[in-house]
Amino acid sequence: MAARPVLKMGDPLLLSRAVELEAFGTSALDSLLQDMRDTMLAQHGAGLAAPQIGVPLRVVIFGFESSPRYPDAKPVPYTELVNPVLTFLGEEQEDGWEGCLSVPGLRGLVPRYQRLRYEGFDPQGVRIDRTVDGFHARVVQHEVDHLDGILFPRRIRDLTRFGYTDTLFPGRVMQDD
Ligand code: NI
Repeated sequence: MAARPVLKMGDPLLLSRAVELEAFGTSALDSLLQDMRDTMLAQHGAGLAAPQIGVPLRVVIFGFESSPRYPDAKPVPYTELVNPVLTFLGEEQEDGWEGCLSVPGLRGLVPRYQRLRYEGFDPQGVRIDRTVDGFHARVVQHEVDHLDGILFPRRIRDLTRFGYTDTLFPGRVMQDD
């Protein structure tokens, strides 16, 4: 079990659709999740998708008590989510600054649905069904995008709102490396 290298934008593995996990409660899934968690914690990420460490399965993790990358974000419970399905609730979207461990040092202003329901399974195959909003909803949309081969820069509507974190937010303590 160990932190693994995170693939960076430009790697074709980040552009393909990941496949549904079929076997729950296996030691292979356990070790994948352990590696994902170690990797996310080592880099202070708010979330991580399996394709980011080169595993093309529909598995994501997210959550933090406080995030040095997103100092203003409210806590999100640590969640391991397999085969997620999203249902957007309402048309309302809101803009927020996003980064990604696969796009180090950069942030962009990304519109996301404000509220959504996510369904899926925990690693043992127990159903997860939650309705969330705000940053929690944003993180889920970002991570599920990874499963469909989409990185956040493709979601930016106005590319003048895309740049280097330390230049966009000078003097701001906002980890991004
Ligand atoms: Ni990401």
